[in-house]
Amino acid sequence: MNVLQKIAQPIEAFRQEFETSFANSFQNTSGLVQEALTHVNGTTGKHIRPLLLGLCAGMCGSTPSEKSVNAAVLLELLHSASLIHDDVIDQSPRRRGALTLNAIYSNHVAVLVGDYLLSVAFMQATESGSKELMKIAASVGKALSEGELRQIEAAQDSKMTTEEQYINIIEKKTAALFEAFAFLGARSVEASGEQLLLCSSIGKNLGYAFQIKDDIFDYTPSKEIGKPTSNDILEGKITLPLICAYQKASAEEQEKMRSCIEKAPSNEEALQELMNYVHKFDALSLAHEKLLLYTERAKEAILRFEDSPYRHSMLQLVDFLVERNY
Ligand code: IPE
Ligand code: IPE
Ligand code: MG
Ligand code: MG
Repeated sequence: MNVLQKIAQPIEAFRQEFETSFANSFQNTSGLVQEALTHVNGTTGKHIRPLLLGLCAGMCGSTPSEKSVNAAVLLELLHSASLIHDDVIDQSPRRRGALTLNAIYSNHVAVLVGDYLLSVAFMQATESGSKELMKIAASVGKALSEGELRQIEAAQDSKMTTEEQYINIIEKKTAALFEAFAFLGARSVEASGEQLLLCSSIGKNLGYAFQIKDDIFDYTPSKEIGKPTSNDILEGKITLPLICAYQKASAEEQEKMRSCIEKAPSNEEALQELMNYVHKFDALSLAHEKLLLYTERAKEAILRFEDSPYRHSMLQLVDFLVERNY
């Protein structure tokens, strides 16, 4: 049993229902659509966010319900679609150790499969009859796209991205989705107002931490990650490791860094120089320290719940997010 399976033990029935229902969303078509969907279904992720949703439901005092499963499937479909689109935007050939749809087929196919999954998600939301679920899913979709657009905007800007801008971007592109998962976990079991607020805070803070970890991965090549590294700077994305290095640099070094950032996408030497700055200032450890601020905030909120196997698992999930290497 791996660590995530262990963490899921208190909500094992929920996990199984989620997996079945999620896999079913990829059926009922034929030809190219089915072929592409089968590929996506065969390369699903860690399912950390559904786990977060189920554990929030549990911490709020009930075993996850059918509503919890529906919400988890809907949001995980939204997440899957956003990654398919993200891989087109980032021109990325690999994810989760497998080829991406854009690499196997084309950008056209990938964009359409992403749209297809979004539509499946919204059909399921409509079937649930919950206006609130639809509203939250739509607003997360909006935040996600806005976050990705702001990232493009920041990459095109010749100025250095500030830590504040970076946090704003990841709040929209990643933390909003984590927050929605956690909130709906609580909402699906009729949690109190205070529990809803606490779960939102847990989700949001874990979302920030998740993206910071992902951005650190981009500077730490390893096979386990299952996707290309050193991609962010190639795409002009200035993420926390580089921002931390910049904060430590002298005015002269900052100027040099800015000029390297401008040249970097096509200039191997400039790229290498930026990497050197990141290592010189131990910026990966600095970024990791900032990640810990968010996981600490999440832990504080978790500890406001009474002790239970769910709370215990939630704390383990936080540790997993800090230590994970994939
Ligand atoms: C990472 O997705 C998406 C980010 C927000 C960085 P993964 O490919 O790691 O997939 P999951 O998180 O396991 O679904
Ligand atoms: C996260 O950003 C993508 C979304 C939130 C849609 P990244 O571009 O860093 O994610 P990876 O590294 O491709 O998984
Ligand atoms: Mg990407
Ligand atoms: Mg990334």
